[in-house]
Amino acid sequence: MKVLVTGGLGFIGSHTVVELQNEGYEVVIIDDCSNSSEKVLDGITAITGKRPLFEKIDLKEKSKVEDFFKRHTDVQGVIHFAASKAVGESVEKPLLYYENNIGTLVYLLKELSRKSKSSFIFSSSCTVYGQADTMPITENAPVKAAESPYGNTKQMGEEIIRDTCKVTEGLNAIALRYFNPMGAHPSSEIGELPIGVPQNLVPFITQTGVGLREQLSVFGDDYPTSDGTCVRDYIYVVDLAKAHVVALQRLLGGKNKTNYEVFNVGTGKGSTVLEVIKSFEKVSGKKLNYKIVDRRPGDITSAYADTTLANEELGWKAQFTLDEAMKSAWDWEQKIRS
Ligand code: UD1
Repeated sequence: MKVLVTGGLGFIGSHTVVELQNEGYEVVIIDDCSNSSEKVLDGITAITGKRPLFEKIDLKEKSKVEDFFKRHTDVQGVIHFAASKAVGESVEKPLLYYENNIGTLVYLLKELSRKSKSSFIFSSSCTVYGQADTMPITENAPVKAAESPYGNTKQMGEEIIRDTCKVTEGLNAIALRYFNPMGAHPSSEIGELPIGVPQNLVPFITQTGVGLREQLSVFGDDYPTSDGTCVRDYIYVVDLAKAHVVALQRLLGGKNKTNYEVFNVGTGKGSTVLEVIKSFEKVSGKKLNYKIVDRRPGDITSAYADTTLANEELGWKAQFTLDEAMKSAWDWEQKIRS
């Protein structure tokens, strides 16, 4: 069964390609390599023993998307990762984000609407909840006004898919709302490759540990949490990748209850920034150089998932602990810097 993975050379995409191939799917990747490298194909091949098909296409080029679907009429499922994801950059360049994240989604859905049957998995984010009023966050928590164009593209993306599913017989979709993905494949063949200074906590920690950054700034210790630092739900990327496979299987097997569904993908456990640092120190045996600085504008206090729906409906549950995920991130960082 052939599955298209857009953005399949990226961080979460590449780990999902591995899990799909492990389950026997034939994968074709579309990626424009704007934030990834063709070398990732070698890593995927080393892990799975099979090189996925790859086409370097910019999904903003509508005619190329049309041409792709004419050549691959046997694509039965699409997992759509390709998108821009830097929150700060999205504030500076909103139209770039709307074109990259919304324009391309529309082109893909147009192609899928032409098919008699298709299954679509969308990368959404817990960012749609903003600061939720109660923890853990269920899928019924209200979607709050987006703080950035990036966040808005996730909310609008979900709405566009929902509206399209309503009127398109044969199109079934699932949006997965990720909490905070981290880590790397246990083989250290693939992992996260942030360009420039990482904005996310875990790559900043491992880069500091390896000596690439001098010091981690912890953004605020005066939040109303157990130790004053923000709480997030850190989900191991391999667990997250597996959630995509089971979501796709649900659609392909016709087990979905409605033709558009939404699931949280997290561990259900919140960790503070200081707990994440402690985990790093434990698995690496190194002291991390960090200092407490002012809060980062736009940060919420706390977000962690209620995963009951994914547990019950998808039969999926995160398997790995924060320490295990951190160990994989640290192994990967050391490998790529050696
Ligand atoms: C961010 C994005 C979110 C996106 C997610 C993807 C923002 C406001 N939100 O979430 O939309 O879906 O990444 O992974 O950017 N921290 C530090 N020092 C650092 C970096 C982070 O203390 O150098 C803290 C932050 O204050 C936060 C936690 O670590 O409490 C996690 O931060 P980060 O990895 O950037 O993720 P989010 O902000 O949760």
